[in-house]
Amino acid sequence: MTAGILAGMPLPGSNAPAVERIGVLTGGGDAPGLNAVIRAVVKAGSNRGCEVIGLEDSFDGLIEPDRWRKLTPRDVTGILRIGGTILGTTNRGNPFAYPIETSDGTRDYSARCVEMFHELKLGALIVIGGDGTLAIAHQFHQRGIPIVGVPKTIDNDIVETTNTFGFDSAVSFATEAIDRLHSTAEAHHRVMVVEVMGRYAGWIALYSGIAGGADVILIPEVPFDLTKVAERIKAREALGARFSIVVVAEGAKPVGGTTSVVRAATGGAVEKLGGIGARVAMDLEPVTGKETRYVVLGHLQRGGAPTSYDRVLATRFGARAVELVLDGQFGHMVAFQPPNIVAVPLERVVGRTRNVPVDFDAIRAARALGICLGD
Ligand code: F6P
Repeated sequence: MTAGILAGMPLPGSNAPAVERIGVLTGGGDAPGLNAVIRAVVKAGSNRGCEVIGLEDSFDGLIEPDRWRKLTPRDVTGILRIGGTILGTTNRGNPFAYPIETSDGTRDYSARCVEMFHELKLGALIVIGGDGTLAIAHQFHQRGIPIVGVPKTIDNDIVETTNTFGFDSAVSFATEAIDRLHSTAEAHHRVMVVEVMGRYAGWIALYSGIAGGADVILIPEVPFDLTKVAERIKAREALGARFSIVVVAEGAKPVGGTTSVVRAATGGAVEKLGGIGARVAMDLEPVTGKETRYVVLGHLQRGGAPTSYDRVLATRFGARAVELVLDGQFGHMVAFQPPNIVAVPLERVVGRTRNVPVDFDAIRAARALGICLGD
């Protein structure tokens, strides 16, 4: 790499860009690959002659003064393989309903964000986030801010893209955890219940369950009947397999029952799911007669280095987002529709969740192999 590129000089032969200053921010829960997107935006933007400004802690960087910094290629060297986000993030930072308690409820800081966007002389804003952050991005686009979205979440539940970065890394970690639980489950002839994240979608549970060779996979899209789960465990026992692995998505619920919630939604924060692993373990033990333990993988699924798959996807997303900025294609989100990274209008994305289709071939494959889905 030449010193010119490191200093953010335009590549030889490139013309002055239509947008000279691009803002970038990361919002919502972190996911492995956020830094890889930031790096791609900074390098691709700099190589096209754009200056990149990093905004800190999601939209807080446009609310509070001095919460931004210039990002040069030198600043992003070495971050490709690092989890988290160098810009920081928050999932309580909706500028349209900012969580500051006043007698009138939450505050609307959106006008301040628009003002700050212009004060910083930004020509475009690349917003890297999940459904909540992308919905905010869409609102700002409607207020005239030139926005490009990049879909991020370990949950893989954003519509119009077959994959979000972070998902593969989370599945890899969960699979390794299930592998480790296999040996202790087998040694003690126990049932091990593993609760994984995913909110209202079962992608992480389904993929890690299949990859880890689980005997039971419970996902939100297929409400479960615990007697069916117990039957499967007892059938394994009868065949001499004296242990079982049950993977439960945090959003899974029994037939006719409700999702387990540890904290209800409050101003600015969505409801927090959790507890289903413990419930399933507690209810299974008396009906199977088998000692049962549970493990909640929690935020470990969001930590650590991104997998090579996520690094490539994140890099493609970041580079494509810069292309959209320079083409003036705003109000769009980059999306993976194999084999290409395409642009889809944000209005087609917001307010929708991509669930696992119940006739998905991976579900049929699981059933074909005798994995119990709890129905
Ligand atoms: O959306 C990503 C995610 O990790 C979900 O899988 C999980 O339900 C949620 O975020 C947890 O959020 P928090 O970081 O607020 O606990």
